[in-house]
Amino acid sequence: MSGLVALVIGGTGMLRQCTEAIASKATTTVLVARSARTLDEITAAHSNVLPLPIDYSDDNFVPRLIDFLTKYNAKPNLCVFWMHESGSENKYRLMAELEAMGANAIDLYDVCSSSVAQPGREGIQQQRQRVAAKCKHITYHAVILGFKTENARSRWLSDEEISEGVLAAIDKQTDIAIVGQIEPWDCKP
Ligand SMILES: NC(=O)c1ccc[n+]([C@@H]2O[C@H](COP(=O)([O-])OP(=O)(O)OC[C@H]3O[C@@H](n4cnc5c(N)ncnc54)[C@H](OP(=O)(O)O)[C@@H]3O)[C@@H](O)[C@H]2O)c1
Repeated sequence: MSGLVALVIGGTGMLRQCTEAIASKATTTVLVARSARTLDEITAAHSNVLPLPIDYSDDNFVPRLIDFLTKYNAKPNLCVFWMHESGSENKYRLMAELEAMGANAIDLYDVCSSSVAQPGREGIQQQRQRVAAKCKHITYHAVILGFKTENARSRWLSDEEISEGVLAAIDKQTDIAIVGQIEPWDCKP
């Protein structure tokens, strides 16, 4: 991943293993979460990580992040976003700003909980088309977190399975990756 500039949002919890794998290969990784303590733990192990402690649901989230990227001349070409509903509007605002930042191609991996597969929700395909229509330089990839069925019982994914699933999607540049299973919907834990 030489020449890789990564932007990882929400990568200090269940995605920590994924974040550290990216940081070990990327030239620069901008890492966003609220807790400065957790961010410091990761930067202590990876000197090329630039931590930004900020809340992605704040009104000034997008301008502050764009200022930070500009200050460090960091133009991401790989983005991994794990953002809850509270950051949804800012996620799309950020995509528009990243698009406006420059002409570099960006592969964006949007990690989605299994609820996106819930019957009646806007489909991921529509979401991809919406991003493609507005952001010519961004390739939107979705990584849907499902569940696993073992011995006729279902369970949620472990952090390790989630990180490995996201890394595999990045490695294969999968458009829509499903980690575990999302069907049948009724079988979710
Ligand atoms: N289908 C599935 O299998 C599935 C789906 C979803 C979740 N889960 C499970 O649920 C567990 C909990 O998930 P989780 O998302 O609550 O925890 P998490 O991934 O462990 O933490 C969320 C990440 O986002 C950051 N974050 C959260 N809110 C933020 C905000 N407003 N602004 C900026 N950064 C923010 C957190 O750091 P800060 O707290 O420092 O901000 C952290 O990096 C996971 O460990 C996973 O096992 C499973």
